[in-house]
Amino acid sequence: MAPYSSARDEFDAGDSAQKIMLDANENSFGGPIDANLARYPGSLRKQVLQRIATSKSLNPGQVFLGNGSDEAIDLLLRALVQPGRDNIIIMPPTYGMYAVQAQIQQADVRSAWQNPDFSPNSEAVLRVTDQQSKLLFLCSPNNPTGACLPESFVLEMLEKFPGIVVLDEAYQEFSGKGSWISRLNEFPNLVVLQTFSKAWGLAGIRLGMAFAHPFLIQILNNIRYPYNINTSTLTLALQALDNQDNVLTQKQLIIQERERMALALSSLKVVEQVYPSEANFLLIKVQDADGLYRHLLQNGLVVRNRNKEPLCQNCLRITIGRPEENDQLLNSIQSFPINR
Ligand SMILES: Cc1ncc(COP(=O)(O)O)c(C=O)c1O
Repeated sequence: MAPYSSARDEFDAGDSAQKIMLDANENSFGGPIDANLARYPGSLRKQVLQRIATSKSLNPGQVFLGNGSDEAIDLLLRALVQPGRDNIIIMPPTYGMYAVQAQIQQADVRSAWQNPDFSPNSEAVLRVTDQQSKLLFLCSPNNPTGACLPESFVLEMLEKFPGIVVLDEAYQEFSGKGSWISRLNEFPNLVVLQTFSKAWGLAGIRLGMAFAHPFLIQILNNIRYPYNINTSTLTLALQALDNQDNVLTQKQLIIQERERMALALSSLKVVEQVYPSEANFLLIKVQDADGLYRHLLQNGLVVRNRNKEPLCQNCLRITIGRPEENDQLLNSIQSFPINR
C-alpha cells in the first residue's frame, strides 16, 4: 500500500529555514494565539525519534511514535488482523485495551488465563493458539497485578507463538527487570511497547512508542495518520528527554513509597492480601471491594475497582501517590468498618 504523502513529508523546511511555505494550506498569518502552532508538525518528529532511538541504542527505523501506546496497539491490530478470520491472544487479568481494540477490528479474542497466583500459563496460551493467531499480548509488569513475566516464559512464547509477540512494558521502569528492547535484534517477531505516560509523568501529552523490526515499523508508519504526534507533544518530549535525571529521582521515590505502602497495607485488618508489584500501583484483596471502594470515594479517594476482572474478585488497584496522599489512603482504609 502506498501511504498518504503529506506536504511535510514531501518538503520539510526545518525549524530555521527561511522558506515561504505555501504547500500545506495552513494559515500563514499565524492564528489567534501566539503559540507557533500554525504549521503542521515537521522535522521535530525526526528529532524526537532520533533522540529516543539513540537513548535505546536502536536505529530510528526500529522506533514508532504513537498517540500513546494505545495507538500502537490499535495499529498493530489493524495491520495484522483480518477481520472475522484471525484471532489474538490475551492473558487475563490484563490491560483492557488489547481486547477492546481487537473487538473493534473483529478479531476473535482468545483468553489464556493466568494462574491464580498471577504467573503465566504457557500451556493455556498454546492450547488456544492456531495458525490464525496473529498477536499475543504480554504485559510485564502486568496491569492490574503488578507481576513481571519470567524471562523463560517470554522466550518460550517468542519461540513457539506463530504470530507477533507484543510485550507491553508500560511500567518497566518501576521493575527490577531490564527491557526486552535489548533483545529486539534476536527476535523479528517481537514488538516492545513503552510510554511517556507512567514513569515519565507525561500522560497528558499522549506519547507512546513501539520498538520492533524495521519491516513492521514501516507498516505502522504507512497506516498511521500523517501527523499523529502534534507539535506541542513533540516539543515537550524533547524537553523531557533533556531532564531525564528527574525521571530517575521520581521513579525511586515511587518505588520507595510502593514498598512502604505494601508493608503498611498488609498490616491492616481489612486487607487480606497485597500482591507483589513491580509497577507504580498495588493490587490488594479485601473482604468487600465494592464497599471499600465506595467508602474511599466518600472520603475523596479514587482507586480502581477490579472486582469484576477475572481472578481479581474483591480486588482494588491502588496507584502509588505522594506520601501524604498515601497516608490519607491508609487512614481512610483503617476507618472502614470490617464485617458491616
Ligand atoms: C499496560 C498498559 N499499556 C498501555 C497503557 C496505555 O498507555 P498510553 O498512555 O501510552 O496510551 C496503559 C495505561 O494505563 C497500560 O496500563
